[in-house]
Amino acid sequence: MTDAQLHVEDDPAKAVGELLAEAVGSISLTGGSTPRAAYEHAAALQPDWSGRHVYWSDERCVPREDERSNYLLAKRALLDRLAHKPSVHRIHAWADPAAAADAYEIEIGDARFDLSLLGLGPDGHVASLFPGSPQLAVRHRLVTHGPAGLEPFVTRITLTLPALLAAKRIVFLVIGADKAEAVHRAFRGPITDEIPASLLRAGDAPISVYLDPAAAAR
Ligand code: 6PG
Repeated sequence: MTDAQLHVEDDPAKAVGELLAEAVGSISLTGGSTPRAAYEHAAALQPDWSGRHVYWSDERCVPREDERSNYLLAKRALLDRLAHKPSVHRIHAWADPAAAADAYEIEIGDARFDLSLLGLGPDGHVASLFPGSPQLAVRHRLVTHGPAGLEPFVTRITLTLPALLAAKRIVFLVIGADKAEAVHRAFRGPITDEIPASLLRAGDAPISVYLDPAAAAR
């Protein structure tokens, strides 16, 4: 069991950018819209990511160049800005979802993430593990796939709960008043399937949550 440490910052993306710049080893990136500024800041602080390995917590099943791709977000905000690139382990989510999940499971192998950066959905979802979804119950795999519970409503490839819990360090970046209730329930409420992000507190990995005052309002 672990308590989430909350860090309320006027510019939490800057703080997370600094953590990413200092990170070593295997780093799992999140998708969504929040992390863009953190990625840009990390690239500006540390242009040399040689020797690092970059993974994703989840990906949308969309064409390779689709604006909804989490990979494309990180490519533009981080990878393209680096002078020395990491090893990039992209989820091949444009292919058949089951095959993409199997391939990514093999790609991860026995890697353990030194840092897993995650976002929080307003419904308390983490990665693409949505409240009430069968994917939440998958325990024998590192990667699974299934429908989205929120926009964009496309099939998702996602790390499973065991894979998320296996990280050595978990960092959340959460911004905006629309996340305040989810923040309260995920990090200060009961550990429950209704709020998938709360389940990470059942593990041993330290959890740091970087958030702005609006997301911390509750
Ligand atoms: C995704 C993300 C997802 C995201 C949350 C928050 O594929 O959408 O991995 O888990 O972190 O939905 O998204 P925003 O940052 O857009 O609010």
